[in-house]
This record gives sequence, C-alpha cells and structure tokens, in this order.
Amino acid sequence: MPKMAMPNAETAILGALAGIGAGVVLVFLYSTAQFLSFHFITPSQPLKKYKRANTDAYALITGASAGIGFGIANALLDQGFGVILLGHLPDELESAALTLRALHLSRPATLVRTLPLDARTATPEEMQTALATLSPLTITILINNVGGNPIAIPPFRTHATYTPADVDAVINQNARFMARLTALLLPTLSAPTAGSHERSLIVSLSSAAHIGLPWLVMYGATKAFNRAFGAGLARELATDPATAHVDSVVVTPGEVRSQGNCRGVPRGAPSAERFGWDVVRKVDGAVSRGWREMHAHWWHGVEAVLAGIAPEGALTQGVTEQVAAKKEAWNGFWEKNR
Ligand SMILES: NC(=O)c1ccc[n+]([C@@H]2O[C@H](COP(=O)([O-])OP(=O)(O)OC[C@H]3O[C@@H](n4cnc5c(N)ncnc54)[C@H](OP(=O)(O)O)[C@@H]3O)[C@@H](O)[C@H]2O)c1
Repeated sequence: MPKMAMPNAETAILGALAGIGAGVVLVFLYSTAQFLSFHFITPSQPLKKYKRANTDAYALITGASAGIGFGIANALLDQGFGVILLGHLPDELESAALTLRALHLSRPATLVRTLPLDARTATPEEMQTALATLSPLTITILINNVGGNPIAIPPFRTHATYTPADVDAVINQNARFMARLTALLLPTLSAPTAGSHERSLIVSLSSAAHIGLPWLVMYGATKAFNRAFGAGLARELATDPATAHVDSVVVTPGEVRSQGNCRGVPRGAPSAERFGWDVVRKVDGAVSRGWREMHAHWWHGVEAVLAGIAPEGALTQGVTEQVAAKKEAWNGFWEKNR
C-alpha cells in the first residue's frame, strides 16, 4: 500500500516539538554537567588569585567566633591566608583565635587577629575606628557572614508580635552592618594590584530563607537583601575597570548545623566546619563561571532547584512544615530554660 504523505503543517509541528525536546535535553545535560563539575571538581589551590606575591593576604570574616564564620576562617587559614575574626564578645573571639592558632601550629600566631565589633549596635564611627586598626594589613577578602535572628525570645514568632526593637535588631545585624562594612572596605579591596592575576573577593551569606518563611519573616527578608546586595555589587563592580578585579559572590546555604542552628536540624545537614571548607573550595568555580550566587553544599543546590519549580501550594506546605518543626524544638527549649 502506498505511504500517505504527511501534511506539511503536521510535519512542521512534529519537527518543532522534536527541536524543543532536544533543546530541553541539552539544557538538562549541560546543567547536570555544570552541577557535577562545580561540586566535585575543585581546585588544588583554592583562592590563589586572592593572595599577594610579597605579603600575607588577610580575610576579614564577620561573625567568626563560631558556626560557619569560624569554619570559613579555619579553611582560609589552611589555604595560607591570614584571618581577622570579627565578633561582638571579646572573650569568645579570643577563645576562637586560640583554637585556630592551636589547629594551625605551623602558621605564625599573628596570622589570626580579632576585631571586636557588635554588628547590631556598632555606629559608623566605631566601625571606622575599628577598621583603622587594620590598616597595616593587606585585606583581599571580605566574608559578610554575621547573621541570625536576634529578637527577644521566643525566637519563632508571628510578625504581629515583633516590637520595633525586634525589627531593627534583625535589620541591623543581617543587613545594615554588611552594607556599611562593605562600603567602608571597598576602597581597600579595590586598591590597584600588581597584575591581572591578583584579585579581591567579597562573599556574602544569604540563606534558603530568602524565599520567605513563616515565623521568620524578618530573617527571610534580610536574607533576600543579602542576596540582592551581593549580586548587584558583582554587576556594579564589573562595570568599572578600576573595580573589575573585585569579585562578589553570594553563598546561599540551606540547613547547616552550627552554634546558632543546633535544634530541629535535619539529619544529613553539613556541619559548619564542613560547610566552611565547601565555601573555600568552591568559590573559584562560581567566579570562573560568572555566577553571582552559589550553593556550597550539593544538596542545597538540589533543594534550590526543587523550590524553584515547585507549585506555590507545595512550596508553602513544605516550608511551613519545616519551620514548624524548628519552632517547636526552639520555642520548647526556651520555654524550659526560661
Ligand atoms: N546555620 C544555618 O543553617 C544557616 C542557613 C542559612 C544561612 N545561614 C547564614 O550563615 C551565617 C552564619 O550562620 P551560623 O549558623 O554559622 O551562625 P551562628 O552559629 O549563630 O554564629 C554566628 C556568629 O556571629 C557572631 N555574632 C552573633 N551576634 C553578633 C553580633 N551582634 N555582632 C558580631 N558578631 C555576632 C556569633 O558570636 P557569639 O558566639 O559571640 O554570639 C558567632 O560567631 C548567617 O548569616 C546565617 O544567616 C546559616
């Protein structure tokens, strides 16, 4: 029986669908290859371009006496950087510095410095005075890490119960401080370098909470600020030849077990120490790909993709259940320890 010729329109539609299908498969394969190479092929000498030939390069890390900040400081020291630990409690800072020196006995003790400053209350003048004490050091990395939910207890509450002081505390600690500190340090970070191989880096910690969470409305909102701040800065710095050697990358963690996040944490969440290593090993990969944001832990990257494609109903249910479990764990703890 002779074959029926397919009408032209039908052929064209089938061709277009096949083309779209092939495109989707290619995008999927490309994204999967990027994901795997980013997380599992990391440089043997991370952050080399942020070092200096003739002097020690330092990283200023905010909120570095514990948690992720401490983990990043530990990993940076291991990679040959000096670290300046910024925190609000001088005793805790000193104890963190002693621990780091003990962990890195082969490095000079002077490579670990401390800078007491309260991110919630520091005035611009206090910040300027504190930074002036660092002027002999060559700072090439700023890690905007300090953040949390510094409200009166219980820590998980509806927004209607926030006092003006609660609102300001979250904004000051998570957003205002990093914006002011970055502005103050940008002239240092963008100082001319010996050549195009020497660069500076700003890493800003956001959170998966940037999508907006119940009972943590202010926290999530400031984490969205961190994200837009770091990305906007990256694009702005790139426009001017005088600052184009300063990279800015946002790190967006999911759950990390830390001093501040130690209740209701899902099993399998990385420790702050491990996460600090992940950040230091992977930032180069994000910069070289031109990414403005990175997920330092592979599972957080998967969660972000799922959150991006989930319908609103499923997303709301998922985050509400997750935060409700944390709320119960934390508020129950505070209730008992009042
Ligand atoms: N852990 C997570 O699951 C997670 C998830 C997403 C995003 N993040 C983000 O990652 C960053 C670090 O989180 P983390 O869990 O490591 O925090 P953390 O364990 O609570 O540690 C916070 C650090 O900041 C210091 N700090 C607290 N208040 C301060 C203030 N007013 N001024 C200066 N320093 C202060 C703390 O010092 P003291 O010990 O002296 O109080 C500590 O060294 C934050 O920006 C957070 O939003 C964390």
